[in-house]
Amino acid sequence: MLNDNFVPLYSQKITKHYLSSEMIDQATIDRVIETAEITEVVQDYITLKRRGANFLGLCPFHNEKTPSFTVSPAKGIYKCFGCGKGGNSVSFIMDHEHLSFTDSIRHLAKKYNIEIYEKELSEEDVKQKNERESLLIVSAFAQKYFSDVLAKHPDGNAIGKAYFIERGFTEKIIDTFQLGYSVDKFDEFTKEALKKGYKLENLVKSGLTIESNDKTFDRFSGRVMFPIHSISGSVIGFGGRTLRTDKKVAKYLNSPESEIYHKSKILYGLYFAKKAIVEHDKCYLVEGYTDVISMHQAGIENVVASSGTSLTVEQIRLIKRFTENVTILYDGDPAGIKASLRGIDLILEEGLNVKVLLFPEGDDPDSFSKKVSSLEYIQFIKANEKDFISFKTELLITESATDPIQKARLISDVVSSVALIPDRIARSLYIKECSRLLKVDEQILYYEISRIRKKNGDQSRDSRLQHGETPTQSAIDQSNKNKILYDHQTCEYEIIRLMLNYGNEKLTFEDNENNISVATYIINQLKEDELSLDNEQYKIIFDEIVTLIENTGVFSEKPFINHPNPQISTIAVNMLTEIYQLSTIWIKRETLIQPEIKKLTEIVPETIIAYKNSHLVHELKQIEQKLSETTDNEEIDNLMRDYTKLKEIHKTISITLGNRIIT
Ligand code: CTP
Ligand code: MN
Repeated sequence: MLNDNFVPLYSQKITKHYLSSEMIDQATIDRVIETAEITEVVQDYITLKRRGANFLGLCPFHNEKTPSFTVSPAKGIYKCFGCGKGGNSVSFIMDHEHLSFTDSIRHLAKKYNIEIYEKELSEEDVKQKNERESLLIVSAFAQKYFSDVLAKHPDGNAIGKAYFIERGFTEKIIDTFQLGYSVDKFDEFTKEALKKGYKLENLVKSGLTIESNDKTFDRFSGRVMFPIHSISGSVIGFGGRTLRTDKKVAKYLNSPESEIYHKSKILYGLYFAKKAIVEHDKCYLVEGYTDVISMHQAGIENVVASSGTSLTVEQIRLIKRFTENVTILYDGDPAGIKASLRGIDLILEEGLNVKVLLFPEGDDPDSFSKKVSSLEYIQFIKANEKDFISFKTELLITESATDPIQKARLISDVVSSVALIPDRIARSLYIKECSRLLKVDEQILYYEISRIRKKNGDQSRDSRLQHGETPTQSAIDQSNKNKILYDHQTCEYEIIRLMLNYGNEKLTFEDNENNISVATYIINQLKEDELSLDNEQYKIIFDEIVTLIENTGVFSEKPFINHPNPQISTIAVNMLTEIYQLSTIWIKRETLIQPEIKKLTEIVPETIIAYKNSHLVHELKQIEQKLSETTDNEEIDNLMRDYTKLKEIHKTISITLGNRIIT
């Protein structure tokens, strides 16, 4: 039977390096994880009903009428069969409260009255932490100061506030976004800050004060101020807009990079938008501060801006924590179009769905909001946002309609975007759409896309597999028919899935008296041929299983369910619940598991052989490649010798597996 001991010592060892930058002591984390019982944690949010060994309720992550959210107290995990979300107590809090790992631990510690011990900090840690804290304090002060100036100072009122009101901002929105004004004097702010006891060093590091030739002056003097907030709402930087029309003056100045402000990792407005993004399962992406604020005022709150930088991968990953659906709202001018095209590819590459809406030339989301009512605005977006294929196609089709060369260029442009999508199923849906719109045969598009993906060298990176999700519907159909679609990725997936689900189960072979556990068998088999997994995540899991067995003699899935690296724990949970997903009736698990668990002696070795076979096929291909490139006779001889040997082994394997393998 599966071993249920949680192995704190072991987990302590492996968790350390993932958490090196966090501040909570490891023993506290272990204690919280052990204490936070999954049903208790979940029941703070939803009602659960007992169903056999498990509990069932309405999923808090998506709208549903019939419960498909299942909790297993024995394993300490939850899984929704409607939306696919799954995890342990900590990831539940992370997902539900949108907190980081550490903050979720703090949240649970509070619930269970567990005292938090901060990790002992190195000197360097302490310095960094102090610097961060000082900068946060100085920024909070500056925000309050600029807002006060806007509200109370005669200039603040007559110039700063008048400007915002002129632009149509309400008092309420000015208040919400904590807008401010920095008077047009040399060092008014710096003087006040020093008087209040803030250190010059921190004022300079935060960029609020500029030091030059022994003089100090305000960076933002004469500008209206847009504070920039972290996800949790602290002020970490500023954008300041000049009120001069002089073209030589930069329209916006932003805080420089600092210990707390990394502009490529920040989205302006995210703190105010995150709730609405989750609610609508959609995020609007705009260019500037005023776009975000105006849309909020128009009642569209799920909006963020990449202010001051062109969109970065880190920013997209931030969005991904809240939704997978992004609509880009940019100006319709050439710069806006160029930025949209670049944005589309970046977003697709991160596995998100992307739509685009360009405003009529001359308008941006801000100016447009002044022309229509909120309702009209929302309807305008709904009616005009386009999926990226239609967008690209329409953008280019007018001139391409008659010219075959232009058309070919258009097709290859659209196709290269589709090729970026990591998910195979999503890709094939887009190929269909593409084929329909461009009137090109699907097969040709498939061929072209696989060629591009090969060239990009990322064909092996299928995001669904990386995240431990079910390989593909067709793979399941195949294995259901007892035929196995064993491509290389599926083999790696299966190896880890078998280890996680049945690591301690014993295999009995006829010619061998000794029982051997599934995990040990697989480990030995891979060691024998010096094979190691290509998928980064799977390799981590595999190596940690090896360490676990070396240290304790047995396998346990618990350290993986509760793994400090959220990617790993997601994979583990998905793999441990996958079998139920196939039928969606988790309650009847016994009847479902029976067949597989009884056939392990067959399934496990077969998977290993298929895996070795896939390596072999790969090596054979490499030799073929080399053969086609070399003219050196001696090398050809050597290559041919290897080739024949491998081919021989391949033949034996194929016979062993009969027609059960499709490669
Ligand atoms: N931006 C910047 N530095 C500049 C110009 C622009 O950092 N010199 C950034 C700002 O974040 C700005 C965004 O790019 O919000 C979009 O620029 P733009 O469209 O010119 O400004 P708007 O937001 O439209 O501002 P406004 O309506 O006040 O002109
Ligand atoms: Mn504008």
